[in-house]
Amino acid sequence: MEKLRIMSVFGTRPEAIKMAPLVKELKTREEIESICCVTAQHRQMLDSVMEVFGLKADCDLDIMTPNQTLSMITTKCLTGMDGAIERFQPDMILVHGDTSTTFAGALSAFYHKVKVGHVEAGLRTYNKYSPYPEEMNRRLVTALADLYFCPTANNRENLLREGIQNGVFVTGNTVIDALKTTVRKEYRFTTDLLNSLDYEHRKVILVTCHRRENYGEPMQNIMEALRDIAEANEDVELVYPVHLSPTVRQTAWRYLTGTPRVHLIDPLDADEMHNLMARSYMVMTDSGGLQEEAPALGKPVLVLRRETERPEAVDAGTVALAGVRYADILRMGNELLHDEAVYARMAHAVNPYGDGFACRRIADAIEWHFGRRAQRPEDFSA
Ligand code: UD1
Ligand code: UDP
Repeated sequence: MEKLRIMSVFGTRPEAIKMAPLVKELKTREEIESICCVTAQHRQMLDSVMEVFGLKADCDLDIMTPNQTLSMITTKCLTGMDGAIERFQPDMILVHGDTSTTFAGALSAFYHKVKVGHVEAGLRTYNKYSPYPEEMNRRLVTALADLYFCPTANNRENLLREGIQNGVFVTGNTVIDALKTTVRKEYRFTTDLLNSLDYEHRKVILVTCHRRENYGEPMQNIMEALRDIAEANEDVELVYPVHLSPTVRQTAWRYLTGTPRVHLIDPLDADEMHNLMARSYMVMTDSGGLQEEAPALGKPVLVLRRETERPEAVDAGTVALAGVRYADILRMGNELLHDEAVYARMAHAVNPYGDGFACRRIADAIEWHFGRRAQRPEDFSA
């Protein structure tokens, strides 16, 4: 029998980090020919992940332009995917999460009548504009997909409520698989700054902020609160690897340049980032991926957004929604820095998002779906 041709399509940093262990798992399967197609919606940030995880693309659509609009990303991906699908004739296309690459990859598969597997399916806020455009991207991909790989049982419940019953698997999040390969006790950073920070005696706050719905006033509020937290607390070191989006960079530099104890640095490679997180005191972020990684490492997280599609760690008590108002962020940040009881309540490792075997379950599920494996994989339960 011919091998199944499974094409993984991704383009941004988080998709690449979360798809890397899956691409590797698929490569180990005798029944599967694994094809890796990158849109390069992110150029530098994608390339860095490919290098860290030792991945090589079979096909690179190279679509990124500076300050790209959502329509630009979607149309360039769709056009590029036509050629990729014709060339590789996949039996199934795997997309991840909720970016514009995800949506365009799934839509293109549908146009070519190729099956779609959605990795990280079933996350919802039920607010069309938050996160924007991600909430709508993932809902549209739900309509297009054939197989759904949900990180948690809660994600499966969301799909069930929407009438999706078939092809749904609970697998855990592949980000935990990735984290298992990057975090090392003896890890040495590549920069003097990160090697020289006194992680034991100072409180290192790891910050990231990049979401489109935070552009403008919310991001300004966030930056002002971060500035005032760093200014008021002499035992703090705030490390902020700034996303390459020009809008984000302008805002971060405008509000934080010259602030004592604030380190604005370029995006970190994934292994540097994960090891920095493992040594930090707490995390403040609007990122999706960090909300999953930090709890696994026992680090409290303040989410710089109005709502989250990842309620599991909030329920477990390690993540709190700080919102995007200056006063709330300042108050909650200071509380975590000064109130030992609050800190202790939040700083414990929980793993609602996975056990590190998500990729194995996803590959098994694909083989089972195509009749190449007798047993349906067992669902992950936290
Ligand atoms: C995208 C995703 C978002 C995800 C984020 C992860 C969409 C609509 N948004 O948002 O869901 O959370 O990635 O980081 O898909 N840039 C570079 N080099 C890079 C990467 C970005 O220069 O390696 C700059 C470019 O000017 C680019 C801009 O950043 O135009 C914005 O990138 P884009 O992918 O459009 O949006 P993100 O905000 O990164
Ligand atoms: N990340 C990284 N370097 C950085 C910032 C983030 O490697 O400088 C990693 C982070 O650990 C996580 C992923 O990128 O694995 C999250 O991506 P991002 O915050 O860009 O997107 P989101 O998860 O919000 O979609």
